[in-house]
Amino acid sequence: MLQIALLGFGVVGGGTAEVLLENQKQIAAYCGDDVNIKYILDLREFPDHPLGDRVVHDVKIILDDPEVVLVAEMMGGAHPAYDFTRAALEAGKSVVTSNKEVVATFGTELLELAREHGASYLFEASVGGGIPIIRPMQTDLASNEILAVSGILNGTTNFILTKMKNEGADFADVLRLAQQKGYAEANPTADVEGLDAARKIVILAALAFGTLLDPNKIPTTGITGITRDHTETADKLGGAVKLIGHTEKIDGKILALVSPYFVPATNPISHVDDVYNGILVDANMLGRALFYGAGAGKLPTASAVVADILDVLSHRKDERRLPVWTRAAENDVADPTAYVCRRAYLFEGCQKCAEKAKKALGAQDAVFLEGSRFALISSPLSEKAAVDALAATGLCPILTLPVLD
Ligand code: HSE
Repeated sequence: MLQIALLGFGVVGGGTAEVLLENQKQIAAYCGDDVNIKYILDLREFPDHPLGDRVVHDVKIILDDPEVVLVAEMMGGAHPAYDFTRAALEAGKSVVTSNKEVVATFGTELLELAREHGASYLFEASVGGGIPIIRPMQTDLASNEILAVSGILNGTTNFILTKMKNEGADFADVLRLAQQKGYAEANPTADVEGLDAARKIVILAALAFGTLLDPNKIPTTGITGITRDHTETADKLGGAVKLIGHTEKIDGKILALVSPYFVPATNPISHVDDVYNGILVDANMLGRALFYGAGAGKLPTASAVVADILDVLSHRKDERRLPVWTRAAENDVADPTAYVCRRAYLFEGCQKCAEKAKKALGAQDAVFLEGSRFALISSPLSEKAAVDALAATGLCPILTLPVLD
């Protein structure tokens, strides 16, 4: 019998127990032994749950039990999740987690600690909910140089944007629905202001480039500033507004950002709706691959947690190869104004202004919206070059969005 413990019995913790119980037989066959949830750490009691008798309130009981070989941390938040993770790894127990805040903030040292103690630290569920993305990047793409990673990394905001676009729904109502469905973070500000997506792009950038950026320092814009202007412009230009996390290298330095983007209908990401996430990986041998699936929610996220549990338990006799990340120095981080991409603009003005803007920004066409406003897509320019080109025309855009090609 393989004994494990769950830290946190909320949406993801409850889902993880459900997956382990529901698919018990195939899980035992895969691991070569039964998997038993010996303890569940939570502040609350769960008297009506079939595993209610496993609930403990003191993490020491788990840490001091030599039978427990693995701890699944699904508490959320930095503390005490980080402290419990450290203590478990120091006790030689492997840790799997859905906690993107802990991975994005402390991943470098926790991976190091796991290596020192012959344990594993796996985090498939920290990005993309149930979508397999971490393991494919670490294993299947190991022979490739990763050039860029971009995509929809937050289910809650994609759910909100989709419902607002398709049903004209109210922001606050849809956010409440996302909370009821178990998609949103305990504090949904992290979702709507882009911080959750920032943590995820930082993890993907570390997998791609081996360097862990500070998630609090990357340029981050959420969806609270999205207005009807954005959706009308996107409609007119033939695409959708999506909250995108993007990372690439510019002259050897790492750029990572989170922003609303205009995504043309020709890019499959533009059709990724509701709680789904879609992640594009550009690799030098494979080319472009799209990872798509449920980006949040109880069972999809639990499915990824259990995938890591199975990975650890089925390789318990093997030596593990965990990624080595270094913490980013100031010099590792690219200047965001050097980011070259096409940009979508909305301006107020007449046909003559449109001609002037087209010329300055290297746009092929301009489309007119109601109220003598026009939209266009620039040619690929750095942000700095685009700002300089516009300054020379005296035109001031109502909005600007990077384009995800
Ligand atoms: N709040 C997150 C989201 C949960 O909506 O994507 C999954 O990480």
